[in-house]
Amino acid sequence: MSLAKMIVLGLFFFQLLNIRSLGAACLSNCSTIDIKDPFGTDSSCARLGFELTCNQSFQPPKLFLGNTSIEVLDISYSGSTALVRSKVVSTIQSSYNDSWSGFPTNGPYSISITQNKFVAVGCGTLAQLSSLQQPQQVISACASICVDQTSTSTDGSCTGIGCCKSSIPTSLTSFEFQLTSLNQMSLSGKNYSNKAFIAQETWLNTNVQAMESQYTNVTDDNSVVVPVLLDWKIDNLSCAKANRKSDYACSSNSVCVDYNNSTGYQCKCLDGYDGNPYMKDGCQDIIECNQPNKYPCDGTCVNSQGSYTCICQNGKRSSNCTTSNGKELIPLAGVLIIVGVGIFVCLLSLPIAIIMLMYKLKARRLRKLKEKFFKQNRGFLLEQLISSNKDIAERMKIFNLEELEKATNNFDQTRIVGRGGHGTVYKGILSDQRVVAIKKSKIKLQREIDEFINEVVILSQINHRNVVKLYGCCLETEVPLLVYEFISNGALSNHLHANFSRSLPWQDRMRIALETARALAYLHTAASISVFHRDIKTANILLDDSLTAKLSDFGASRSVPINQTGITTVIQGTYGYVDPEYYYTGRLTEKSDVYSFGVILVELLTREMPVSQGRFPDGGNLAANFMMVMQDNRLFEILDPQVVEEGRKSEIKAISALAEACLNLKGEERPTMKQVEMELENLLGLRKRSKKRSGHLSTPQRLVENDGILRITSIEGSSSSSEYMTRQFSLEEEFLVESFPR
Ligand SMILES: *[C@@H]1O[C@H](CO)[C@@H](O)[C@H](O)[C@H]1NC(C)=O
Ligand SMILES: *[C@@H]1O[C@H](CO)[C@@H](O)[C@H](O)[C@H]1NC(C)=O
Ligand SMILES: *[C@@H]1O[C@H](CO)[C@@H](O)[C@H](O)[C@H]1NC(C)=O
Ligand SMILES: *[C@@H]1O[C@H](CO)[C@@H](O)[C@H](O)[C@H]1NC(C)=O
Ligand SMILES: *[C@@H]1O[C@H](CO)[C@@H](O)[C@H](O)[C@H]1NC(C)=O
Ligand SMILES: *[C@@H]1O[C@H](CO)[C@@H](O)[C@H](O)[C@H]1NC(C)=O
Ligand SMILES: *[C@@H]1O[C@H](CO)[C@@H](O)[C@H](O)[C@H]1NC(C)=O
Ligand SMILES: *[C@@H]1O[C@H](CO)[C@@H](O)[C@H](O)[C@H]1NC(C)=O
Ligand SMILES: *[C@@H]1O[C@H](CO)[C@@H](O)[C@H](O)[C@H]1NC(C)=O
Ligand SMILES: *[C@@H]1O[C@H](CO)[C@@H](O)[C@H](O)[C@H]1NC(C)=O
Repeated sequence: MSLAKMIVLGLFFFQLLNIRSLGAACLSNCSTIDIKDPFGTDSSCARLGFELTCNQSFQPPKLFLGNTSIEVLDISYSGSTALVRSKVVSTIQSSYNDSWSGFPTNGPYSISITQNKFVAVGCGTLAQLSSLQQPQQVISACASICVDQTSTSTDGSCTGIGCCKSSIPTSLTSFEFQLTSLNQMSLSGKNYSNKAFIAQETWLNTNVQAMESQYTNVTDDNSVVVPVLLDWKIDNLSCAKANRKSDYACSSNSVCVDYNNSTGYQCKCLDGYDGNPYMKDGCQDIIECNQPNKYPCDGTCVNSQGSYTCICQNGKRSSNCTTSNGKELIPLAGVLIIVGVGIFVCLLSLPIAIIMLMYKLKARRLRKLKEKFFKQNRGFLLEQLISSNKDIAERMKIFNLEELEKATNNFDQTRIVGRGGHGTVYKGILSDQRVVAIKKSKIKLQREIDEFINEVVILSQINHRNVVKLYGCCLETEVPLLVYEFISNGALSNHLHANFSRSLPWQDRMRIALETARALAYLHTAASISVFHRDIKTANILLDDSLTAKLSDFGASRSVPINQTGITTVIQGTYGYVDPEYYYTGRLTEKSDVYSFGVILVELLTREMPVSQGRFPDGGNLAANFMMVMQDNRLFEILDPQVVEEGRKSEIKAISALAEACLNLKGEERPTMKQVEMELENLLGLRKRSKKRSGHLSTPQRLVENDGILRITSIEGSSSSSEYMTRQFSLEEEFLVESFPR
């Protein structure tokens, strides 16, 4: 073997020894005990104060705190505790003192006062614990007696029978034990040993029986290893201070916990982590899914850093699992709540919103309708008409719908004063206290509307004391509303055909006839344009408080240029009043009104309805029958008895003659209204100087062949309000008239 080789070998062995010595200095374990930070078997690998000694001369090797004789049984890094072998003081002497010390001075260890108990085992012994430095100041004591030698307590409760235990109030590092015999040993012939020690309470509960069995055996005091739990801490600083220092002990995923009033600190792994918080990467995530006993999960277990999730399977729910990731459940629930609340609020506010919207839409539609109607009702034309003429503007106005609704209490049924062919008449009181009649059509044909407009236009140009006054109209409804002066005494027909034996006095009847004639004469000639009323009848002659006649209902009236003698129109009028010539030819002249006026005269004379079936043997037509009785000189047969009573014969005859003239079948042979007016004035003695009668009137014509046509049964007269009722010829009715057997 060469020298070089020897040197190499020598170096090798030296190195090997060197490594060994280094390895011995920093052991990672001593027997079953792992040695990790902050502990170490050498000052180079241990934190100051945490040096341990592994004496490998023992088999198995024993670990000691530092260079002390205190044997380490276990170390808990996560709990920052160490289990060391306690000193058992044992004696058979009646009085015995012993101490236990040797903990490293200013070291990190202290006896846990919560997890250890001071224990005495023996028959008749008093055990006292005190600090080694102050043996007189006893801090804990207990006595154990034996009631009966053979039946010593073995239940481990250490209640004083064979075994007693007591708390340790303050943490100590050196102890003085004093054992005093209570002279019970003499009870037995054997030698007994009394023992005292500090022990971990959890160990005590399960192992004290072994200790108790020992009190008969004085020879083997060290046979039982009694553990005591020590707390250990880092330094003597608070977490707040230690945190800023370079030698801060706590690793990642761990927290610092102040120990005993900030006399030091300990490190703890975060929840979900486990391991040694004092070592780099010491706190390891707990794989909870691998510990189903500790972390139960019914569903699919999913581990995550510091936590885990148990996902329910197949929709099954239990408290162990969640339907989703546990972290997402809360936001999802929040969203659901928000959505739910939103829907709830929406549902609540929706009807309100809809109502408001509908109200708005309705109001808007109403406004639009009003505008539409106003247009349709030729409101602009009327407006122009009214505003262009100062006279008309003074008399008439265009009313708001609201105004008229207010005036009629919203067109209340009780305000209805009449129903006519043109519509319903309401009594109303305007805001200026004027009492008015408001005519409202129920038919919404354009023809009806035209009639309304027609009436407005005609009446707007007429100003006569015997023509009902039109105050104005409202054009905001589908059919226009006409506002008249209210005529309090109703229609002439009401007075004549009421079911009373006596009616209007003869003089009043004559005056009414005159007033009507005046109005018609005015319409035909005096007004700026010629107006044919076309619907003259007693129902359209209204009477005011003083029974003054007021001609009304100009819906059918036609204005005709003054030089024009006649126009051809659709037949309009009322059964019993219609001029037969006009009816057959359709040619409208002023004489049609004269014919109708003739019927009124007959009505005034006879109080008979113009058409009344059963009253006359020869059909129901009053005019035709009147002409017949005139022809036969049987006038007084059909006269109203009241007329015969009150009237002078000459007057009656004159009026009858006038009626006959008016009822001439040939229109051109009838007198004009002006002539009628003058005749009536003569009769009433108002024009005494022109007493001579017109020759025209002395030759009355006779109704010969056309009377049959007018015997059409009228619906009139069937109800009390029928006096206002008018029947107008429609095409259908014309057909019926045509086809009626003559
Ligand atoms: C460390 O543990 C191993 C087995 O885990 C053992 O063989 C070895 O002797 C132990 N070291 C000490 C110093 O006890
Ligand atoms: C180990 O223990 C033995 C016996 O108790 C003792 O003689 C020896 O000095 C100890 N060695 C160390 C390094 O403490
Ligand atoms: C332990 O070591 C310290 C110094 O670190 C020394 O002062 C002390 O005497 C030693 N104790 C024993 C029992 O060896
Ligand atoms: C034990 O200590 C107490 C108090 O220090 C003392 O009074 C007593 O005499 C001591 N007993 C023995 C046997 O040393
Ligand atoms: C806390 O420390 C004081 C003195 O430092 C000590 O008296 C006390 O027993 C300690 N408490 C605990 C619970 O360790
Ligand atoms: C037991 O006690 C007796 C006297 O009481 C003594 O003679 C004997 O040596 C004791 N035995 C032991 C093992 O100490
Ligand atoms: C006392 O201890 C010795 C040695 O451990 C043992 O051999 C003996 O049987 C024990 N005596 C009793 C009474 O348990
Ligand atoms: C902390 O411990 C050191 C020695 O480890 C000592 O010098 C210092 O006085 C202690 N501080 C306190 C507040 O106890
Ligand atoms: C412990 O804290 C209390 C207040 O919580 C204080 O009164 C006491 O002095 C503190 N003790 C020590 C040893 O710091
Ligand atoms: C979790 O599940 C296990 C087994 O499925 C069950 O025994 C346990 O009671 C459940 N835990 C809770 C808190 O319901």
